[in-house]
Amino acid sequence: MQLSTAELQKKIQDIKKRIDVTVVAHFYQRDEVFEMGDITGDSLELAKKTRDDDAEFVVFCGVGFMGESVKVLSPNKRVVMPKLACCSMAKMIDGLYYDESIKTLEKAGIEADDILPITYINSSAEVKAKVGKMGGLVCTSSNAKAIITDALKQGKKILFVPDRCLGQNIANQMGLNSCVIGDGSDPKEADIICYDGFCSVHQLFSLDDIEFYRKKYPGIDIIVHPECDPAICDAADFVGSTSQIIKYIKELPEDKKVAVGTEFNLVNRLREKNTYVLSSTKPECPTMNETTLQDLYETLKAIEDGEPIGEIFLDEDTKKWASIALERMMAL
Ligand code: 13P
Ligand code: SF4
Repeated sequence: MQLSTAELQKKIQDIKKRIDVTVVAHFYQRDEVFEMGDITGDSLELAKKTRDDDAEFVVFCGVGFMGESVKVLSPNKRVVMPKLACCSMAKMIDGLYYDESIKTLEKAGIEADDILPITYINSSAEVKAKVGKMGGLVCTSSNAKAIITDALKQGKKILFVPDRCLGQNIANQMGLNSCVIGDGSDPKEADIICYDGFCSVHQLFSLDDIEFYRKKYPGIDIIVHPECDPAICDAADFVGSTSQIIKYIKELPEDKKVAVGTEFNLVNRLREKNTYVLSSTKPECPTMNETTLQDLYETLKAIEDGEPIGEIFLDEDTKKWASIALERMMAL
């Protein structure tokens, strides 16, 4: 017999009391899963708060790179994912594509020693390790500007992977030159050279959507995530990480209208405060939505039965170098 949401949530709460586990949930999770999170937040907060937590098991309701980051930062924790959910942007670059990008820049006359790689946290541990080995580091959407500002002090070219939009948005904010590998321009002219990756969900927001809301509700605030296209970010009133978006909206007067360009589940939870989804389509992240309450229950049950399924394992070299890249970010 199918259990109701309330029944499953009760079972989950009961198991959580019996085993040494912390459930972590990103804002893009389905509401009923998100409600089960002991730790919630944006990517940076999840990485930090989970590292400071001391439960033996972490059940991570999010996408693969997030669970991997916990494993890298806390190798003694046992990190389990209820679903094999991988961020499609993180999938756009692997170790081989990363090496190819370095070769492309070398062919264009930039020596590897003059490149400082920065990877958005939305990347595999393999890519983070490659970046760590080259002296580079990780950033998230909430600290990208601070990380790039500091990195520029080394006087090198920044190779930013995998999100071309985040890289270009930060370059625009800082008045720097940027390019995207393969766009026909000379990378030697750019301060920030971006890999050609993107988030398919955040590509759904358009200038037409912004125009629609500005016309319909004069005075409305347009708020977007920095994974949106630079043209969208330029036209917005506020650009921020998921946590920064929530904070910004919570501090607005009740009657202020806002249209938000980020994943549907997050925006939908804020609806009662005059909040609209900035899209003519439903911007759902398919893999964030993969994890169901049933998956979470079964994952916890398997841990209780001593047979965890979906545990993350990484080889020692990857853990070591990805950890160096992540810790460089944490140190800043
Ligand atoms: P945040 O770090 O802002 O939570 O973003 C994660 C993400 O995947 C956005 O698409
Ligand atoms: Fe990845 Fe985009 Fe989903 Fe975020 S919304 S997890 S960047 S696919």
